[in-house]
Parts: sequence; structure tokens; C-alpha cells
Amino acid sequence: MGWNAVCRTEELDEGAMRSFELEGTRIVLYRIEGACYATSNVCTHAFALLSDGWLDDNVIECPLHGAQFDVTTGRVLCGPATVDLAAYPVREKDGFVEVEVAA
Ligand code: FES
Repeated sequence: MGWNAVCRTEELDEGAMRSFELEGTRIVLYRIEGACYATSNVCTHAFALLSDGWLDDNVIECPLHGAQFDVTTGRVLCGPATVDLAAYPVREKDGFVEVEVAA
């Protein structure tokens, strides 16, 4: 699939997140200290959308059972989840935030 423009750069504020879907893949975009990151939006423990949870600096907390992930890498920081989130490459180009999702 390659790079996909998902929003304008000014639509993603510092400390904010935006959820969207690319070809059936649920993704969340975050801006932390000026940089953009993207991970899967679905918790790896059971089914919950992380965009319904809480973002504190680079840590997203699942709204269902409280698992925590580092959104800059997708790594689990705190259970009950044990599997890392998929993390996607992000870049800002020509005024848009673009996410790369493999075909
Ligand atoms: S569904 Fe996210 S911690 Fe259980």
C-alpha cells in the first residue's frame, strides 16, 4: 500500500491522538514532543480501541483492563497484555501526515 496521507499536519495537536482505518486496519496516530507515531488501535489483550483510552506522554492506557503500551515503539509496558502493538512508520510531507502500511 505504501504511504497514505491521513490528515493535515495542523490537525494533529501536541499530545493528541486521531484514529482512522486504512484498508480495514485500525490505526491511531499520536503527536508527542512534535513527532508523529502510529500504532494499531486494537489492544492485543482482548478487544478494545486504544483511542478510547488515555494518552500520557508516550504511554497509552487501554480503557478496558489498563494495559499500557509505549506508542513510539508499540511495546507492552504493563499487563495484562503481553503482545506488542504493531507500529507503523510515519512521516510529514507537503503539509500532511502520512502512514506507511504494508500491502
Ligand atoms: S483489552 Fe486492553 S487490557 Fe484488556
